[in-house]
Amino acid sequence: MSTALTPEMQRRAAGCNLRVVFDEETIAARVRELGQEITAAYPDGDLLVLGLLKGSFIFLSDLVRQIDRPLHLDFLVASSYGAGTVSSGTVRLLYDPETPLEGKHILLVEDIIDSGRTMQRLLTLLRQRAPASLTVCALLDKKLLPEPLPELRWTGFPAPSAFLVGYGLDHAEDHRHLPFIGDLI
Ligand code: IMP
Ligand code: MG
Repeated sequence: MSTALTPEMQRRAAGCNLRVVFDEETIAARVRELGQEITAAYPDGDLLVLGLLKGSFIFLSDLVRQIDRPLHLDFLVASSYGAGTVSSGTVRLLYDPETPLEGKHILLVEDIIDSGRTMQRLLTLLRQRAPASLTVCALLDKKLLPEPLPELRWTGFPAPSAFLVGYGLDHAEDHRHLPFIGDLI
């Protein structure tokens, strides 16, 4: 998965006690491919790319620059349920896109799908907004769901069952800014 690392990257990974799982070049090459596939998949219609904050922010900004067609960009912030909170099975949006979703092609961009619960709840909510289409592009997928989500069309990489950080992903808000994806050692 990881190719040769520059001495600078080795130093930064070691300084954070991280093992590099996907290096910068590997990520960039895959993001280029995803951008090309997404460009080809939407021949016409309004495309609204929705990035789920905060985890998707670096992936989102790299990905949209590889999409060669007009698009609009907005964000979603979903509430997370703390330990001990009984989930109602719904999700609350702390920030909702300013523009209506109705009739638009919605591409939801997420950092990582773990249990899949966050994404399942969000999709339930967004389906009610009557978009022309609703599709997910996730950078990483741990593939824990018994049935893949029907909306999940693009995945950057299958994720190992480790806790991954960097390239937007955090552990207690640390490591988001790293240009590679690593696991804590
Ligand atoms: P899910 O609802 O279990 O699929 O969890 C998805 C959310 O949990 C993601 O949007 C991440 O914010 C977070 N998450 C899950 N696994 C990881 C990980 O390995 N590293 C960092 N964040 C993670
Ligand atoms: Mg997240």
